[in-house]
Amino acid sequence: MNTPFYHYDLDVLRRTLQTISGAIEGYPFHIHYAMKANAERKILDTIREYGFGVDCVSGNEILLALDAGFSPDKIVFAGVGKTDRELIDAIGSEVFNINCESIEELPVISEIARRLNKKTMVSFRLNPNIDARTHPHITTGKSINKFGIPSSRLWDALEELRKYPEIEFNGLHFHIGSQIRSIEPFIELCQEINRLQEELGKKGYSPANLNVGGGLGIDYEHPEKYIIPDFEAYFNVFKEHLRIPDGQQVHFELGRSVVGQCGSLITKVLYVKDAGEKKFAIIDAGMSDFMRPALYASVHRIENLTSEGPMQIYEVVGPICESTDSFGNIEMNEVRRGDILKIWSTGAYGTVLSSKYNLRDKAENYYSDEVALDDFLGQRS
Ligand SMILES: Cc1ncc(COP(=O)(O)O)c(C=O)c1O
Repeated sequence: MNTPFYHYDLDVLRRTLQTISGAIEGYPFHIHYAMKANAERKILDTIREYGFGVDCVSGNEILLALDAGFSPDKIVFAGVGKTDRELIDAIGSEVFNINCESIEELPVISEIARRLNKKTMVSFRLNPNIDARTHPHITTGKSINKFGIPSSRLWDALEELRKYPEIEFNGLHFHIGSQIRSIEPFIELCQEINRLQEELGKKGYSPANLNVGGGLGIDYEHPEKYIIPDFEAYFNVFKEHLRIPDGQQVHFELGRSVVGQCGSLITKVLYVKDAGEKKFAIIDAGMSDFMRPALYASVHRIENLTSEGPMQIYEVVGPICESTDSFGNIEMNEVRRGDILKIWSTGAYGTVLSSKYNLRDKAENYYSDEVALDDFLGQRS
């Protein structure tokens, strides 16, 4: 096995999935795993075993989900810029629901549905103008963000919909942001949904479905302590604060919280550079393998798996010709050339965001049922 590579602990993934299943049992709650977080086949296969559906944001994700055996009636399709080709794939394969992000999409969906001689169900993604109190680059539910239809235009959207007999109104969809670590934004979301549902009821609408999106954050600082996110607290928000009319089904699109903690990126130290003021640990993984630090200034726990030397601070940097190719200033056991480092919590938005920038090879993905990390370390010594 060549470094860098992603390693997935399937036991952690399974325990996460079991916790989610337990937390929603007995409620009209349905999980559509947001496969944008990680679309590796083995991850998808494991998630499918638990009866979850998927949330897709491209036509290729829909095709992969179908190929991986997800039933079309468990697939939801979202995206602010759906192409005609993608809508043909979605409507043609009869996915459960299309999350419509602008009124301007409706005539296009209608025309394609008519051409394919299909009917399709649409939910309106509303932009509730809620501050998710997360990194600005992953906030999606404020009115300045490009996503969704402003809540105030819901009535225009419903009026426009009356023109298109091929499209059935399925409900409302929201997604206020990602890596949300407090429950307040989700409580605010429930309150806004309650208000909107009351208004809908007054106007004679009783949507069959409601989709509250994803966004639950994970603990990047202390992953070993909090390897399973607090799903109980998260789902309790919706159990306690959301008024769910009889018969209505509630859908969730969790991504990061499902797969984030099961993955780590394993990388080798190429050089330790003493630059006077600081020491750099130059590793063989870079932003082409793992983009989050460069994209969102995110900091991940990094552990030296092959040293018990004294703790020291290093700026951990990749080999790529970009100053943002840095994993931050990290305290870890003394680092030497050849040491193996583990970058924790890279299961979500890791391999999916990797590229061949600088024409570098892509990091492979390995699973705990194929090779244990300890075996890999053992083979080296
Ligand atoms: C519409 C939608 N749903 C769900 C998700 C998944 O979010 P998360 O991984 O934070 O749960 C995203 C992520 O950006 C999204 O855009």
